[in-house]
Amino acid sequence: MTAQDRTVFLSDYQPFTHLVEQVALTFRLSPGATRVTARLSLAPNPARAGRQDLRLDGEGLTLLSLRLNGAPLALTPDETGLTIPAGLLPDAPFTVETEVEIAPEANTALEGLYMSRGMYCTQCEAEGFRKITFYPDRPDVMARFRVRIESDLPVLLSNGNPAGQGPGWAEWDDPWPKPAYLFALVAGDLVAHSAPFTTASGMPVALNIWVRPGDQDRCAYAMDSLIRSMRWDEQVYGREYDLSVFNIVAVDDFNMGAMENKGLNIFNSKFVLASPETATDDDFGRIEAIIAHEYFHNWTGNRITCRDWFQLCLKEGLTVFRDQQFTGDMRSHAVKRIEDVLLLRARQFREDGGPLAHPVRPDSFVEINNFYTATVYEKGAEVIGMLRRLVGDADYARALDLYFTRHDGDAATIEDWLKVFEDVTGRDLAQFKRWYTEAGTPVVKVTEDWDGATYSLTLSQTNPPTPGQPEKAPKLIPVALGLLNPNGDEILPTTVLELAEPTQTFRFKTATRPVPSILRGFSAPVVLERQVTPEERAFLLAHDTDPFNKWEAGRALAKDVLARMVTEGASPGPDWLDALARVAFDETLDPAFRALALRLPAEDDMAATLHAAGIAPDPARIWAERRRMAEAVARHLAPRLPALIDSLAEPGPFTPDARAAGRRALRLAALSLLSRVDGGTAAAAAHAGADNMTEEIGSLACLLDIGQGAAELARFEGRWSHDRNVMDKWFALQIAYAAPDLAARVTTALTAHPAFDWKNPNRFRAVIGALSANHGGFHHASGAGYRLVADWLLRLDPLNPQTAARMSTAFETWPRYDTARRALVQGELARMAGTAGLSRDLAEMVARMRS
Ligand code: PHE
Ligand code: ZN
Repeated sequence: MTAQDRTVFLSDYQPFTHLVEQVALTFRLSPGATRVTARLSLAPNPARAGRQDLRLDGEGLTLLSLRLNGAPLALTPDETGLTIPAGLLPDAPFTVETEVEIAPEANTALEGLYMSRGMYCTQCEAEGFRKITFYPDRPDVMARFRVRIESDLPVLLSNGNPAGQGPGWAEWDDPWPKPAYLFALVAGDLVAHSAPFTTASGMPVALNIWVRPGDQDRCAYAMDSLIRSMRWDEQVYGREYDLSVFNIVAVDDFNMGAMENKGLNIFNSKFVLASPETATDDDFGRIEAIIAHEYFHNWTGNRITCRDWFQLCLKEGLTVFRDQQFTGDMRSHAVKRIEDVLLLRARQFREDGGPLAHPVRPDSFVEINNFYTATVYEKGAEVIGMLRRLVGDADYARALDLYFTRHDGDAATIEDWLKVFEDVTGRDLAQFKRWYTEAGTPVVKVTEDWDGATYSLTLSQTNPPTPGQPEKAPKLIPVALGLLNPNGDEILPTTVLELAEPTQTFRFKTATRPVPSILRGFSAPVVLERQVTPEERAFLLAHDTDPFNKWEAGRALAKDVLARMVTEGASPGPDWLDALARVAFDETLDPAFRALALRLPAEDDMAATLHAAGIAPDPARIWAERRRMAEAVARHLAPRLPALIDSLAEPGPFTPDARAAGRRALRLAALSLLSRVDGGTAAAAAHAGADNMTEEIGSLACLLDIGQGAAELARFEGRWSHDRNVMDKWFALQIAYAAPDLAARVTTALTAHPAFDWKNPNRFRAVIGALSANHGGFHHASGAGYRLVADWLLRLDPLNPQTAARMSTAFETWPRYDTARRALVQGELARMAGTAGLSRDLAEMVARMRS
């Protein structure tokens, strides 16, 4: 069967033939032969007329017995499931009982029931439950689950509330109907870090974070983040928790970040475990955000789930939006917004501009695992941010209240979601809906005019073609605008313009020619095109009252400078260097913001920008010019760097809060610059004196960046070889800082390291993912980077197709580059496509990326 034969279409949706009232599962756990019995209480679905076959999904299951209303049935399953013909089924409610055998220890795909270093765990989203038992594995089939686990392991967990336990067994009962993708089971030798919580209405909840013995002292930050998330969702969205326990389990082998199973979230251990010695500030920030994200899914995902997988953005876009709001409230809205936009542009714009572009709500797929993308998640969150900007905060809150009351217990759609906004505001959102159904990043061109009394701003949108969508209609784009006087005063505070037509002109009375600050807060995920002089950018960098656009002005300046260095061999001029210095040393500004302002444009970003300007980017040259740029900045700022670094030293013990983290970020940015002029003296000293991972690894990065740090790397390995999460950093760092000519060789050497456990997704990503992210190394003219990544994807694919397919997106940017590189990438894609037995996951990705 070819990949195309299995394409699933949104337009083919039909409700399931039957309703599942109740599921009773029993697991007799054994690594090589786990027995699963399932008793499904079913009834014909009144939404489907006539008597229907019952089709149960099931993959890789050995069927031991099958009974219908207690009587044995002799039916043989096929490759993907089991059909009980309509003729055998009664009109009234009935039960189906199955017993199957599965081998969790042989499950390397980490989907279904698998083992991770002696513990059992499950991953069922999106379609993993069918690898556990025969079941209608689709999100619109919601049922109450009762689970019995039999095993000698001390901790046996599943969803819902505990319903009894004894020696060798435990039972769980989940009162909330749920789709199978939210099922979870964990069994292992685990210990809990626990805390009590009382909901706003007074219900006590036992909170537990389950980890391996020895890791329990690294759970405090995750627990604190969980408690703050629970409180925040009560206060901001009026949403309370709904079970007597909330369990989180940390697992070392996991394909994704974490999973929101009802009452039993399962986490990649790197997003739970943290201590100052082992986790960086970025790690702490990610833990806080992911704990919040998974917790917020309890309402946006679990209580209200998705009708089908095309609606994935219904839960993911909204939950990302909510976790972004939460982080902003906990830390800094300005800094959070800048970081989110950096990520959006680096991942989503890149995806939207290449062969893998797809709408926020796709309308077909071959393998749903391939659609857990930056577009569904990050652009999905942007769409909600736009909706909120268009209707205002008060109507957003009213619409969300209506969404929760109207759809609690439902498997809902994007149409349902938009309808609550239409009902609350009376607006017609048909045009807005295009954000969900059309792929591609709109380009908004700006022209302006001032006649002495009136300032006219003309905005024109173009919506570029994407695969399968050659023509597009105009979108409704909220453009937040402010106007500044030449003296820096704000004459128009932030106002949201609604660009709905291909071209529209907006007029403002003003006696002076204003400087516009357009797309404040990045009010829409678009590319803004406007001829701006360096002077005007410098003015906005100094005076814009919108922190995002202030940063954006500096970033645009830096990108202009780097583009001219790459294309014309220009050098950074004193104007830009002075403007940068003013921000770097401005003590009225948040150190985290200053650190972001000092971050130079990424090589991949520069490549995309040059491509958009019609120039085929030369990765080696971008790498070299970016270094020359860093050296120029370093020389310009050098005299004041030591004092800045000293002033940012944190007295007292490490705290992971945003204020302290921001100071460390600026300190390390300054240290990185200073390393380029002091031969690494200060960085070596900082490394030797570091008492936390942020500074330990940050100073090591400074040294590697200037070709030093060999002794420090060796010592680091000796000190941390027992810690998998820390060693991932050790692997990744060396590849990230390898020069383009060396990156493939460094990677090859590290793949021969005894600790390169490539079957562990975190370790695979730390090494192969780091090479894919080393722009100069991956795109090396020799093709060595492409070849090495393709070799490893082909090696991983038979074991873990999901992770192999996700990492194949490294190749999605090939259309940007010169013909020689394009041919090299096409060669690797053809080699992958021609490999016998390629997974459906990787086959789909490769097919979409081939020209
Ligand atoms: N639903 C998870 C989240 O966004 C992500 C995930 C998807 C995890 C598929 C595992 C498998 O929080
Ligand atoms: Zn999610």
